[in-house]
Amino acid sequence: MSQDIASADGKLGILLPGMGAVATTLIAGVLAVNKGIAKPIGSTSQMGTIRLGKRTEDNTPLIKDFIPLADISKIAFGGWDLFEENVFESATHAGVLDRYLLEQLKPELEAIKPMTAVFDRKYVTKLDGSHVKTGATKMDLVDQLRQDINDFKAKNNCDRLAMVWCGSTEIYIEESAVHQTIESLEEGMRNNDENIPSSMLYAYAAIMEGVPYANGAPNLSADIPALIQLAKQQNVPICGKDFKTGQTLMKTILAPGFKTRSLGIAGWFSTNILGNRDGEVLDDPASFKTKEMSKLSVLDSILEPEKNPDLYKDLYHKVRINYYPPHGDNKEGWDNIDIFGWLGYKMQIKVDFLCRDSILAAPLVLDLAIFLDLASRANMGGIQEWLSFFFKAPQTPTKDMQPIHDIFKQEMKLKNTLRYMQGEDLITHLGQDYDEKVKEKV
Ligand SMILES: NC(=O)c1ccc[n+]([C@@H]2O[C@H](COP(=O)([O-])OP(=O)(O)OC[C@H]3O[C@@H](n4cnc5c(N)ncnc54)[C@H](O)[C@@H]3O)[C@@H](O)[C@H]2O)c1
Repeated sequence: MSQDIASADGKLGILLPGMGAVATTLIAGVLAVNKGIAKPIGSTSQMGTIRLGKRTEDNTPLIKDFIPLADISKIAFGGWDLFEENVFESATHAGVLDRYLLEQLKPELEAIKPMTAVFDRKYVTKLDGSHVKTGATKMDLVDQLRQDINDFKAKNNCDRLAMVWCGSTEIYIEESAVHQTIESLEEGMRNNDENIPSSMLYAYAAIMEGVPYANGAPNLSADIPALIQLAKQQNVPICGKDFKTGQTLMKTILAPGFKTRSLGIAGWFSTNILGNRDGEVLDDPASFKTKEMSKLSVLDSILEPEKNPDLYKDLYHKVRINYYPPHGDNKEGWDNIDIFGWLGYKMQIKVDFLCRDSILAAPLVLDLAIFLDLASRANMGGIQEWLSFFFKAPQTPTKDMQPIHDIFKQEMKLKNTLRYMQGEDLITHLGQDYDEKVKEKV
């Protein structure tokens, strides 16, 4: 059985609250790909393949040839920022892509100017900009965002939209009473409740306008009962949180391997130095706490110490991020991993990942927008757990459900969901003989 999926024809608008390093690297990258200057490396929707049927059939098309996805030559970009710089200026400032590449895209990049942001320093204390909306209440600000969304869609002749939060990490906020129901959240917005940060207003505006929403940062944003309920009610796909790049990407590649071989881990010390604006924001302890919570949850969920006490009960896990301007966007992530094997004999692994944060994150933003648009056209509202593959702290359908962090399980879930949507057999890796037996039983 395949799912009805509406056509992907027409233009997709990708809206980005926060037009800093990641957002501008995405936009310039898509323009460069469309001009034939570069390839969309790192993007699952553009370069990933999917095996169909039995191994002997040797049928492994590109994902984008298997299922109808928005065409990246027909994308319009827009967004908001508290700094007025256009995308060329912001990309130059971010210093991720070289000037030579940016110069070739200059007119198109200069033409994309951020809309005025909904921003409050209370939630990102390290930033201050003047390109900010004013309104008596948070609900007034939401109304302005909704107007922006509609104006953008009309001005750019978009058929559909998707929004991905690429704004700064906000301070750590615990889920509280105001977040519980749609009514309490709306009441809170009318009363300027301080537990409603800017990212929640963007998420609310998107969902109300039927625009799928992904959250690339670790702050709560759409991960509260009120917005999850609203997304279900409006049948709008949402997902989050926190792009899985850099050190956490490595962690979710390595840890499943140790676990699979029943190797023990005594300690995992991770430290990062980075010098971009994100690093500066994370230098604030309140913003770092949000990030730390997101990064720490990963190992426990993969290793399940409660089920494997001899191997992981005493695991000491520490994550540090330090702002170090000379490195710019080129983050360095060190991991010291103390593992133990047969009879408890100790070994060590050292990882030194000299990565480029925004180069790793940009293709994820593209994939999220493209797959959320697919979900929307397939009538799939609410949390899209099959997109966990892209996140450090994936949202799960219910709060009591542990997220899946193992990247290989996440990949299996993503591809099986695509197979299911197109009415293909799911791949179980059971092997031909067993597959037949399973079918007989069914
Ligand atoms: N690059 C990565 O590998 C990676 C990985 C995981 C998560 N993230 C998250 O993605 C986000 C973007 O990262 P980045 O490197 O582009 O950071 P950045 O600081 O370069 O860009 C963030 C932009 O958001 C703007 N902003 C902040 N609050 C806003 C608001 N309320 N409305 C509109 N604009 C707002 C800032 O002015 C800034 O231009 C951060 O939250 C970061 O933690 C990045």
